[in-house]
This record gives sequence, C-alpha cells and structure tokens, in this order.
Amino acid sequence: MKNKYLYIETFGCQMNVHDSEQMAVLLADIGYKLVENSQKADLILINTCSIREKAEQKAFSELGRLMKLKEKNPNLIIGFAGCLAQHLGVKVHSRVKNVDLVFGTHNIHRLPEMITDIQKERKKITRIDFSSKIYSLNIFVPPSEGSLCAFVSIMQGCDNYCAYCVVPYLRGPEMSRTPGDILDEIQKLSRCGVKEVTLLGQNVNSYGKNLKHGSNFVSLIKKISDIDGIDRIRFTTSHPKDLSDELIDCFSRVPKLCEHIHLPVQSGSNSILKLMNRGYSTEEYLRKIDRLRSSCPKISITSDIIVGFPGETQKDYQETIDMMEKIRFDSVFSFKYSERKGTAAQKLQGKVTETEKRQRLKELQALQDRHTQEKNTELEESVQELLVEGRSKNSEQDMMGRTRSWKIVNFKGGPELIGKLVNVEITRGYLHSLRGKMIDR
Ligand code: SAH
Ligand code: SF4
Ligand code: F3S
Repeated sequence: MKNKYLYIETFGCQMNVHDSEQMAVLLADIGYKLVENSQKADLILINTCSIREKAEQKAFSELGRLMKLKEKNPNLIIGFAGCLAQHLGVKVHSRVKNVDLVFGTHNIHRLPEMITDIQKERKKITRIDFSSKIYSLNIFVPPSEGSLCAFVSIMQGCDNYCAYCVVPYLRGPEMSRTPGDILDEIQKLSRCGVKEVTLLGQNVNSYGKNLKHGSNFVSLIKKISDIDGIDRIRFTTSHPKDLSDELIDCFSRVPKLCEHIHLPVQSGSNSILKLMNRGYSTEEYLRKIDRLRSSCPKISITSDIIVGFPGETQKDYQETIDMMEKIRFDSVFSFKYSERKGTAAQKLQGKVTETEKRQRLKELQALQDRHTQEKNTELEESVQELLVEGRSKNSEQDMMGRTRSWKIVNFKGGPELIGKLVNVEITRGYLHSLRGKMIDR
C-alpha cells in the first residue's frame, strides 16, 4: 500500500490535542502517516475550538489558507473537526466551498470509514450526531519516543452549563471512563516509559458520577498511585463546587500527587458568580483555598478569570481584584468575556463595552504578573524536585524540567538527565520560569 500523508492542525484545549492524537492513530490503520508539512499532505484535518469568538476566527482563517492547497492538488481531502465543527455542522459547507468532511466530537471513531467513503465517491460528509457512548475514548495513543509525560482522558463532556460556556453543547453530557480502562491505559503508558500522567476532564472532581460501581475521583487517584513506574500524577480541570475535603487531603497523603491545582474562580463577585451559574460563592471558594493551603502549604494554585461578563460593574470587577490580592495565585489565564450563541449569558442585559473589557483585562494581568513574579522570587534558595523533560529552549548547555508545582526550571546539565528526577536549588525566579543549580539526582 502506498503511503499517504496526513497533516493535522489543532486549536483549543488539551482535550482537542488528545483527540487529534487519536485521529492520527485511527488513520495510521488505513495507511496515513503523520507529517509536519501541509504541502505534502493527502489529507488535512483542522481540529477546531469554539470557546471564544477569536478561536472561531482562527479556525476559519486557517481553513481558508489550507483550502488554497486544493487548487494545486484536487485530490486533497480536507476535514473540519472538533467543537466548532460540532457547533456549525453543514453550515461549514455553505461558508467554505469544497470542504470534504465536517465531523463533531462524538464521531472521531468513524474517521477511517468516512475517509474511505470520500476516497470512493468524492462526496461531502457531515457527521455531528451525539451518542451515549464515545467510542474513541479508549483509543490508545502510544507516547512518542522518549516522552515522559502523557495526558489521559478520564471523562468527556460537561453537565455544568456555566452561563457563558459552549462546552456542554459541543461535547455532550458528562461521561466517565471506567477505572479499569483508565488503569489499563496508564499501565501501558508506564511500560512505554511514561513517568507523569495528567488526568483530563472538564470537571475531574465529579469523575464517576455516572458509573455504576460507585467509583470516585479520590479512589481513582489512589489506584493510579499504586502503578509502578508512574512518579507523578496531575489533573485538570477542577470545579470549585465539587472539590471535596477528601480530595484536598490527597495533596498531603498521596506522595505521587503533585502539589498544584488549577481551580478556575472566574470572578470575585457573588452576584456575577450567580449569573454565571457557577454554584459557589466567593466565601466558599476562599474557604477551599484556605483548606488547600493548610493541608499542603507548598501547593501552587492557578486559576481562570473572565472579565466583562454581562452585568459586571466596576464594583464587581474590583471585587475580583480584591480576591486576587487576598489569594495571590501562582498564575492565571484571564479572558475577555466572549458572547457565544445559544448560551444563557447571551440573553443577559448589561453588556460591557470592548474598551472596558480591554482595560479591565490589562489591569488584571499586570496585577497577576506582579504576583507571579513575587511567588517565583519567594522560591529562590529553595530546593525543588524536577522531572527533566529535555533541552532548554534558551541555551544549548541547559536542560529544562518542571517542578512538582508545575513551574519551568532551566539549569546547567546534559541530555543524560532526561527522564530523571533531580533536585535543584532555585537561584533566580523570573516571570515565566526559574533558574536552578543541580544539587543531586
Ligand atoms: N472546564 C473548565 C475549563 C473550560 S474552558 C472549567 O470549568 O474550568 C477554559 C476557560 O475558558 C474557562 O475556565 C473560562 O475562564 C474561559 N471561557 C469559557 N467560556 C468563555 C467565554 N464565553 N468567554 C470568555 N472566556 C470563556
Ligand atoms: Fe464550561 Fe463550566 Fe463545563 Fe467548565 S464547568 S466546561 S466552564 S460549562
Ligand atoms: Fe475549545 Fe472544545 Fe476545548 S470549545 S476549549 S476545544 S472542549
């Protein structure tokens, strides 16, 4: 069989990255080899995101650019996948002519069959139906050679319906994989040399909700921690309303669980949190932060914040700033509110102007930069355990690893250290990374 070439461009979150990897595994079975050059490809897939308007614009501009390759190669197959494909369905075909395939987040497992059909008949295909079982969830992605870190999806979808968010509409209801499937996958990854796993889900804290045998997230973490060869466990994302005391205690009781939690707060104003349908108050959030810090003083805490949600007054915004001052996050991903079709927030009054959103975001980011820098400076002279991932981007002589708290450290060392756990003393804290000196292995 002649080799055919596949090029995939991925936008959006880690789940989309994982989905793209699974697509590549499925297509390898029908003879497609993944390449990094789109010019060479026989099949191009764009795996899209729809979380904010900007993500949509990026996906369409990339589609437009790649469609030009069809002028030179009419046999080229172009597919539009992921959350934006799920949202728009056939509308993609009317917006951009000559797209061969549009498929959504529950149809990944059908990819080989859809591509074979297109090769036979050159017809246009659209598949965006939802199913009660996501068949692609159990596709094993072998880690690339030398890879130490892997992502493992433990669930799909979301039932939370935060007022601003499209994810529940595009990924369907929450569904957890069985502990057996997850543990099998991690054991296999460990045999391939993986040392660190990050468990993925929109709301990992509620893992197991729809499983029959009463599995929950804490029991899953404990079982994973018994797997030989896995040194570090991480997870993302946690929803504050479902963060139990039992899970908080794992940070001090399960040695392999890394001391980092990403806990999106979204806003520091109770009236905005209510409009957002987040299911917790600022007081409850602060209590959870206190518990996390008293159970595990070294824990690093990161968050997501949206500015300019409909109805957000200057006072509400100031409450977010006050909360950030109280908590001092290690880092924050912050966004301007972006209106999404079909969400509850679309119907809310009190839209905030673009200029106001931009101003609030700028101020908030400046404050967070100050906190991040202060936190990183506080780490100077401390000893940190790193898992060495590879060469540093900054210098040939340097290696790079991550602390258990998820911070990047560059230090002098050779490639023989890749895959090893080493201890470094932090000599300098910068805004985006730390500098260290190796003290032992
Ligand atoms: N499931 C995760 C993350 C979902 S998306 C969670 O619940 O935390 C990642 C982040 O994008 C969200 O935390 C939120 O801060 C942001 N986001 C989602 N929808 C948005 C919108 N319409 N406009 C701006 N930011 C949004
Ligand atoms: Fe979106 Fe909320 Fe679900 Fe996160 S928890 S994916 S923000 S609806
Ligand atoms: Fe985007 Fe879908 Fe992820 S909307 S953030 S790719 S779940």
